[in-house]
Amino acid sequence: MRIRVTPGTTVAGDVRVPGDKSIAHRWLLLGTIATGRTELRGLPVSFDVASTARVCAGLLGEDELFRWAGSIGSGNPDVDHRIAIEGARRDLLQPPSGPLDCGNSGTAMRLLSGVLAASPLSATLDGDDSLRARPMERVAEPLRRMGAVVDTVDGHAPVAIKGAALQGIRYETPVPSAQVKGAVLLAGIGAEGRTEVIESTATRDHTERALRALGAGVTDLPSGIGVERFDVPSFSGSVPGDVSSAAFLAAAAALTGGETTVERVGCNPTRTAFLRVLARMGAHVEIATTGEELGEPVGALRISASHGLQGIVIAPDDLPGTVDEVPVLAAVAAHAEGQTRFGGAAELRVKESDRLTGLRDLIRGLGGEAAIEGDALVVAGGGLKGGTADSRGDHRMAMAAVVAAVAARGPSEIEGIEAAAVSFPGFTATMLDLGARIEVLG
Ligand code: S3P
Repeated sequence: MRIRVTPGTTVAGDVRVPGDKSIAHRWLLLGTIATGRTELRGLPVSFDVASTARVCAGLLGEDELFRWAGSIGSGNPDVDHRIAIEGARRDLLQPPSGPLDCGNSGTAMRLLSGVLAASPLSATLDGDDSLRARPMERVAEPLRRMGAVVDTVDGHAPVAIKGAALQGIRYETPVPSAQVKGAVLLAGIGAEGRTEVIESTATRDHTERALRALGAGVTDLPSGIGVERFDVPSFSGSVPGDVSSAAFLAAAAALTGGETTVERVGCNPTRTAFLRVLARMGAHVEIATTGEELGEPVGALRISASHGLQGIVIAPDDLPGTVDEVPVLAAVAAHAEGQTRFGGAAELRVKESDRLTGLRDLIRGLGGEAAIEGDALVVAGGGLKGGTADSRGDHRMAMAAVVAAVAARGPSEIEGIEAAAVSFPGFTATMLDLGARIEVLG
């Protein structure tokens, strides 16, 4: 679907965003292997979470979850929708009759690998062309070391897993990745002995927070985390709003001179590094934590523009904490004064699309200057004229293009906006509500 974005309006107002997809994947998986009935509220009706939900529904023979996943893509998202799952211990999961489709979701494929590795069944995980191009050995290798049989096709999906009685390991991740850490920890709670994951840079900690809140033996280590074998009890939880979705609205407000408050959003500090980057660039950012949900801090995020944003250097060590927000930060950087450099950004090449090349092309297509220098993305700043951009089927690229375009000097046309629903169903409608001028061209 192609849209036209006409700049000149202010993006402002109070809003809520759909539930956090990283948290939703994890709580769905924990509910699946829990003993008894788990109730989850606020699961986002996004395509990625639907992929995990569909696979879990199949493993459990759960009709309600299956129907919910099947309804996605139709109608308006209800951010507080409630769903119940009748969990089964790993040894009671139903062996799948065919490949398990993870769609576009790397998190679904990698975290499910961890759950299945410790389950007494054989399964094959597959996905769309984008997912089949992403590296899977990074998760297969530690799971093999724990005792599972895991086969990839030249390091890629389809991933065939034969679960086994696993042994805990101490694993140092070669690349900081919350998906790899999460997979090893989810396998670890089904393994004999302690499982430890050591990371050179800390990544999002949703798996360990949920496990700790549920009563698992979780130990903080210098640069890592350890878990003990654990039988997951049933639980209930309300998924906080996705701060990575809020990032697009916050950036649009900061760029257009507006002020926006996002309520009931996740404020986990391993996810809010982009706010520190925006503050360094000169935006006014406030985050007020008001409560907690299954170990996850929840609160309100308020952002407004200051007089002019400045280009900055984002060091390689800051990259893992902002990995999902580089597209929107690059959109902001294109409008800042002076150059912004995103160092150590190689991981962007293996996201839902090659975001390093994609962002350079996106900024150039919208009438700005950007370059790739080794593993760094360098954005010139100084504003955008307006032009054309293509999401290349990548949700965050689609939304970043809209944010870049609302602050441009002239109109832009963006192809492939429907990809936004992978993580942020209702994105275009929310932007319209907040004042953006967007028309669907067909
Ligand atoms: C995620 C981890 C990150 C992130 C992805 C979600 C997660 O990926 O980019 O959108 O939920 O664990 P990596 O672990 O590959 O960095």
